Amino acid sequence: MRRAVCPGSYDPATNGHLDIIERASQLFDEVVVAVLVNKKKQGLFSIDERLEMLREVTAKLPNVRVDSWHGLLVDYCRQNGIVAIAKGLRSVSDFDYELQMAQMNRELSGVETLLMSNNPAYSFLSSSLVKEVATYGGDVAQMVPPLVHKRLMERLPGTE
Ligand code: PNS
Repeated sequence: MRRAVCPGSYDPATNGHLDIIERASQLFDEVVVAVLVNKKKQGLFSIDERLEMLREVTAKLPNVRVDSWHGLLVDYCRQNGIVAIAKGLRSVSDFDYELQMAQMNRELSGVETLLMSNNPAYSFLSSSLVKEVATYGGDVAQMVPPLVHKRLMERLPGTE
């Protein structure tokens, strides 16, 4: 069983995240989508809300499951028999930090990182920008799964 993890904050998941999760699920026997808790970031959605949305939007992918983790990603990998970290690269500006994390994670644990080129249709997407645009009433319906859009509209009624 070759198991990979797609880690992230997923606050909330975007279509770009889903594209990477789906493509990773075709390469590995099992993919765990892990919501990593970042104490420095104040989330719009609670960890449980993010997990619920992720479970729903990945339900059609039989070899994908969803989990959360407080702590180092490499410890999660060790404890869960994970051989690879699969992440999307949107642009050259992502590359420096992603490479640094990939090297650090490999140094710490030997786990490999697979940096997958994002679908160019989603290269401008980030959870932060989606939230900012939605906060001011911008239309993000095509940028996130329908369930995430519904939850965003409930949480951010489009006014400051
Ligand atoms: O969606 P994000 O916020 O870009 O994801 C970043 C994330 C959560 C994957 C990264 O911050 C992470 O791996 N955090 C877990 C803590 C950890 O292992 N830090 C050391 C990274 S080398």
